[in-house]
Amino acid sequence: MAKKTVKDLSLAGKKVFTRVDFNVPRNESGEITDDTKIKAALPTIEYILEQGASVILASHLGRPKGQVKDNLRLDSVAQRLSDLLGRNIQKADEVVGPEVTEAAAGLKPGDILLLENVRFHPGEEKNEPELAKAYADLADIFVSDAFGTAHRAHASNTGIAAHLPSVAGLLMTEEVENLSKSLHNAKRPLVAIIGGSKVADKISVLKNFLEIADSILLGGGMANTFLRAKDYNMGRSLLEEDKLMQASEIMQLAANKDVNLCLPVDLVVADEVSADADAEDVIIDSVPDGKMALDIGPKTREIYADLISKAGTIVWNGPLGVFEVEPFARGTMDIAIAVANSQAFSIIGGGDVVAAVEKAGVADKISHLSTGGGATLEFWEGKELPGIAALEDK
Ligand code: 3PG
Repeated sequence: MAKKTVKDLSLAGKKVFTRVDFNVPRNESGEITDDTKIKAALPTIEYILEQGASVILASHLGRPKGQVKDNLRLDSVAQRLSDLLGRNIQKADEVVGPEVTEAAAGLKPGDILLLENVRFHPGEEKNEPELAKAYADLADIFVSDAFGTAHRAHASNTGIAAHLPSVAGLLMTEEVENLSKSLHNAKRPLVAIIGGSKVADKISVLKNFLEIADSILLGGGMANTFLRAKDYNMGRSLLEEDKLMQASEIMQLAANKDVNLCLPVDLVVADEVSADADAEDVIIDSVPDGKMALDIGPKTREIYADLISKAGTIVWNGPLGVFEVEPFARGTMDIAIAVANSQAFSIIGGGDVVAAVEKAGVADKISHLSTGGGATLEFWEGKELPGIAALEDK
């Protein structure tokens, strides 16, 4: 069911509590290294301000677990947001309390107040009703634009919705529309590319795609576990011995459902993960005892690229090799280029694959780069996300 959006309400003169996901990556000195998530929230913030309302912004940063951690304060986020918007931002030093109440009371149309990192408050992750009510008391309307946090049921993204008219922001709406297109009535063939290191993280998403996809292309460390389950010698490759049964079950299910579950037919192996490693291509029945599989090989790249070129819809989560280290980047890079060149509607979820398509220089050719990591994965698992469920239906 479609959700009401910020465009369905009259905002003039209102105070709008807007939950955003400004959980941005930072380096050791705390500098923001990627502001994609901040930029993604700008259309909603600008829209609310243009309507003659004021905005109270709330976000988490990192996992401070209910404690104040100076290195996780939102000051650098406020600065970056102010630079991007070209507007002054009032930044509070607390999540709720007298300073915030006074600042919110004094907001005029066009003003922006950013609360301190909501996870400094012990009630946030516990979804404490008192905290949700305290947020709601600051404003007239709740807008959620925090798609990346939608799989969490916390006070600032679900609890507050019990007290105010609650609608989706423009980013949230775009994410849900695009991701829904990959699950419901997807243009066929639907090709799911699933990589990453751990089978355990991807079991549910694989099971969901076994119901709806035409082909599933496996890569990354998790493919090693599937290959091992088929009795191949994987040398010193990273794999999960305790997940062999589950991998076999998935392969059996795929056969029963007539889904084309593709495993690598060749691999790039080396004895260490380093830029000057001596990497070689081997077919899957020839992985040397002392070596590790670290990327998909040339024949696999060709087979996968061919299926991708014929796809109607492509979803991709998890890299296909250790793409950060040059000798093992080719699989992920070639597949990124194949996805970019295809005519399919393509969606990428998860920061690592988004970074990979950026590295390949093809990010602008992907139909939708999701800002969600865990949220996108849970969406693709077919779960209802609490941060979306809490918003009003159209
Ligand atoms: C993310 O970065 O995936 C979201 O901001 C959620 O963060 P969390 O996993 O700490 O809840």
